[in-house]
Amino acid sequence: MTTVETAPVQTTEKSAEGLVERLFGAMLATMDVHAAYLGNRLGYYRILAEQPVTSSELAACSGTAERYAREWLEQQAVTGILDTDADVDAFERRYTLPAAYVGPLVDAVDADHFAPFLQFVVGAVKQTERLVEAFRTGGGVSWAELGTDARQGQGGANRALFLGPLGREYLPSIPDVNAALRAGGRVADVGCGVGWSSIGIALAYPDATVDGYDVDVPSIETARQNAREAGVDDRVRFHAVDAATVNPSGGYDAVFAFECIHDLSDPVAVLAAMRRLAGDRGTVIVMDERVAETFTAPGDEVERMMYGYSLMCCLADGMSHQPSAATGTVMRPSTLRGYAAEAGFADVEVLDIANDFFRFYRLG
Ligand SMILES: C[S@@+](CC[C@H](N)C(=O)[O-])C[C@H]1O[C@@H](n2cnc3c(N)ncnc32)[C@H](O)[C@@H]1O
Repeated sequence: MTTVETAPVQTTEKSAEGLVERLFGAMLATMDVHAAYLGNRLGYYRILAEQPVTSSELAACSGTAERYAREWLEQQAVTGILDTDADVDAFERRYTLPAAYVGPLVDAVDADHFAPFLQFVVGAVKQTERLVEAFRTGGGVSWAELGTDARQGQGGANRALFLGPLGREYLPSIPDVNAALRAGGRVADVGCGVGWSSIGIALAYPDATVDGYDVDVPSIETARQNAREAGVDDRVRFHAVDAATVNPSGGYDAVFAFECIHDLSDPVAVLAAMRRLAGDRGTVIVMDERVAETFTAPGDEVERMMYGYSLMCCLADGMSHQPSAATGTVMRPSTLRGYAAEAGFADVEVLDIANDFFRFYRLG
């Protein structure tokens, strides 16, 4: 996702009426998220991207029940996503997905693809009962327990960034890393998830080899399949292993951790392993959330989103293995500096890479 205008903090007078209005808008937005999730999960948007359909055509093409398909189509038109002619009989009415909405809803590599964020949110919310329990016990909800929607949503949400700007703009802007990878360098990608970062690096640097490490077995299996389909499985290998225990043979030119340090129960152990993997000559880069330097309330939309993710998923994921650093999504730069120092790094530099949601750190 490249372009999201985030609104500044609204500081209106606090009234019951104002809060109810705000929550009513949030409730409608939640319903939009739920309906859009159904539209993706059931293949409705994909069918609509090909041609306008009636409810019975949509039901037949998707293998779903006409009555449900009709309700969904009507909801989507009422909420303003699909176009239709309200004067036509309900069974004859044809619904159209505007061409501009195909990228956000259907095209997985479009820079504005947003469907994975909805999948992630719905997937995480499905585990609310476990989360309630975790709040009471101080335990956690692991990445494995969060399940397929959260895993796929996470992978899909970062896919366009990893296959686009990461290899085209961000890494080329770090001269020594760019030179090493162009010369056929070795890369380690820690907490690689379903592998799009490893694959993006391999596609951008045709002579580089990449080892992706992740503790989650289903993620690694998906990553291997993604690499095969992308045609880079001869240079990209995935390993199902706790990154803290990776054999420190060194020799990697670049060691990355993309959006995962804040999730780790033991971030210092993983950073120390990354330091060993890089050895004397490799570079360690962390991409994590671009949260504010300090706690500010009320916060802007980015900060609100990060706290939302933290409550839904990241804090409970990190606390699912004890003892835990219990970082949460809102890992401030000062927190990372503390972890890096404990892991033996002397310096943390914030790289000059422009992204609304992520900050890039170089650890030396
Ligand atoms: C939020 S996901 C990020 C995945 C991927 N880097 C991305 O940006 O889409 C965090 C990942 O860290 C992995 N992880 C957690 N603890 C780990 C550990 N000790 N070693 C390796 N991976 C770990 C999880 O399995 C999960 O895939």
